[in-house]
Amino acid sequence: MNKFSSKLLLVFLLSSVFSCQKKEIVSQKEKNYESKIDSILKLMTLEEKVGQMNQYNGFWDATGPTPKEGQAAIKYEHLKKGLVGSMLNVKGVKEVRALQKIAVEETRLGIPLLFGFDVVHGYKTISPIPLAEAASWDLEAIKKSAEIAAAEAAATGLNWTFAPMVDISRDARWGRVMEGAGEDPYLGSQIAMARVQGFQGNDLSNEFTLAACAKHFAAYGFAEAGRDYNTVDISHNTLHNVILPPFKATVDAGVRTFMNSFNELDGIPATGNIHLQKEILKNEWKFDGFIVSDWGSMGEMIAHGYAEDLKDAALKAANAGSDMDMESSGYVAHLVTLVKENKVKESDIDEAVRRILRIKFELGLFENPYKYCDEEREAATIGKTEFHEGVLDMAKKSIVLLKNQKNLLPLAKEGQKIAVIGALADDKTSPLGSWRIGADDNTAVSVLEGLKNYPGNTVVYEKGADVALGEPKFTKETKINTTDKSGFPKAVQAAKNADVVVMVLGEHGLQSGEGRSRTDLGLPGVQQELLEAVFNVNPNIVLVLANGRPLTIEWADQNIPAILETWQLGTQSGHAIAQVLYGDYNPSGKLPMTFPRNVGQVPIYYNYKNTGRPVPNEPESVFWSHYIDSENTPLYPFGHGLSYTTFSYSNLSLDSKSFTKNGKITVSFDLKNTGNVDGKEVAQLYIRDIVASVTRPVRELKGFELVSLKAGETKRISFTIDEKTIAFYSANQKWEAEPGNFKLFIGGSSYTSLETDFKFN
Ligand code: NOJ
Repeated sequence: MNKFSSKLLLVFLLSSVFSCQKKEIVSQKEKNYESKIDSILKLMTLEEKVGQMNQYNGFWDATGPTPKEGQAAIKYEHLKKGLVGSMLNVKGVKEVRALQKIAVEETRLGIPLLFGFDVVHGYKTISPIPLAEAASWDLEAIKKSAEIAAAEAAATGLNWTFAPMVDISRDARWGRVMEGAGEDPYLGSQIAMARVQGFQGNDLSNEFTLAACAKHFAAYGFAEAGRDYNTVDISHNTLHNVILPPFKATVDAGVRTFMNSFNELDGIPATGNIHLQKEILKNEWKFDGFIVSDWGSMGEMIAHGYAEDLKDAALKAANAGSDMDMESSGYVAHLVTLVKENKVKESDIDEAVRRILRIKFELGLFENPYKYCDEEREAATIGKTEFHEGVLDMAKKSIVLLKNQKNLLPLAKEGQKIAVIGALADDKTSPLGSWRIGADDNTAVSVLEGLKNYPGNTVVYEKGADVALGEPKFTKETKINTTDKSGFPKAVQAAKNADVVVMVLGEHGLQSGEGRSRTDLGLPGVQQELLEAVFNVNPNIVLVLANGRPLTIEWADQNIPAILETWQLGTQSGHAIAQVLYGDYNPSGKLPMTFPRNVGQVPIYYNYKNTGRPVPNEPESVFWSHYIDSENTPLYPFGHGLSYTTFSYSNLSLDSKSFTKNGKITVSFDLKNTGNVDGKEVAQLYIRDIVASVTRPVRELKGFELVSLKAGETKRISFTIDEKTIAFYSANQKWEAEPGNFKLFIGGSSYTSLETDFKFN
């Protein structure tokens, strides 16, 4: 068949298929593209098949080590030959359309490209960093936030986001904790599902949605010592009980793609890992989308000492079930030869291409490759008012009130002299956080701008000190060792004359994120000294923390009366913070990650194991699991967060003290708003399995509900417990519930003491 006729045949094949489809209204699940994919596969050369498995970065922004000079010309050449299946980091309809046009009109078969991008927490209109959103425990709001991100990004030509990141992490030194949902597998799973549903909607072919990508498969969040890209060495038990559940949840929610990870697991890099990719994800979980490698992770198997050269790396990745190569060029360079040498089966290539084409069909790209490429829609969609309203709502819900002595917060709206101190108060870039590469610098509402909406008070601003040396950039090293204290005297003077001091301190938005590991979790630079200098003249301080990870702020906890955790809240940050400071919004966030007292406690997490020596057997004993220079307990536990009102939990009861296979029990309790203002509380259910075939954590989150209560109002709340609630990955190497005794805890944080017990027979 000559070149021309084969392309015509494909066009005919596709158009006939699509015209039938248009007549039917079918749901996404009922669509069956397999026979169409068969037909396309028959038309493809081996080179073209391998081309579908190749993903290139666009020629502008890099989100990994930048490729060598002269790569652009090679990429264009490959595009024209049909040797590219997807591009990443291409910005805007004009650019997307230009590249899609090459794929559709200049290649032999005209197969459209996928366009992927890290739409992690918004594209241009930025919502809070994912860790902050997780602090809302508000699944509807998180879903809505992902919907907004998808709608805006899809209008710029994109059809695929590399999100959600569902890596569980217990180590705040790791900069990428900002991108996940924190330390808990249950909360992480619920949020992972909400995000997938938000990005993908119910129908991938809807042009306001994106294909989602669960990443990084797997265990990337357990990098040794919190150092990004470092070795991971964890048990099978931790892998299954802690790390995999959120990934499984995304498969259950219908996620269409997965990304593997940079790290090794059991000595085998994830990109070359058959157990993870083939055995667990594709075979056991029946995932029928495709797996993209992480940036260059195929090539990095050489540095890992797992592949001799790029050809060997391509061989190992392909045979392990890695379907698409992001920026290693290993497949495009070597896969055809590897098939010819009988080292990789062509049927395996067909399988990978099938998975990739399936997503292209589901997105509707064969029907209209330019469906995301409408410049008018792009202009009308970016920065829509409703998006700004949505991210503001999400930002308010993400704030956590850590401490509020003598009700210093909310601030009075009239007649106060307020000193605002800290470089971050006047920063319009930092609140955008890391991973917001579609947004422009200087587009967030600063705290100072937010406070302007409350003109009844006098505000004096002093920077005091910088957070970092120079303006941090996404792809450049951010030095945090600022030593300049020349701004201290003015800040101290301003504080002296003020009724209340609002100190906005923490990390710049680009001091967390990929490649931003820290060994010190205190306030960067000289901010701690600034805080203490101001405290010496005026202790009436509200500390507004802005940060992408838990920080060690033990001194502040001991001395500062009010502390508000505001993370990096995105475009509407300043408005959200001001509304909470003034009580127009009553905070209800709860920590999704434990705050340590000091770095030495890290990794620290609430669902730890009891050990054989949990408490001293006699006074003064040293022979128990503890430190001689620090408490074991965290500064703020997982699930902690206050409100401008107070809540009480009482009348805990179970409808039965035991249940059997296929049965269930219901636990109920009264939740009362005991204060004077309306508020919301996240009621949390924790369970402990006392004895099991493998040791189990001291408590595990198994349910939660965000409850709104008017001042003085009481509601009776219930949770159902069944076999699924208490199942875990057992010594039998499978998920099962084991008979025995359980403890159950109810309350507003993981350190709750209201408890009862039950039995599973
Ligand atoms: C590397 C990161 O690990 C991954 O999360 C991201 O999606 C890719 N780079 C692409 O930017």
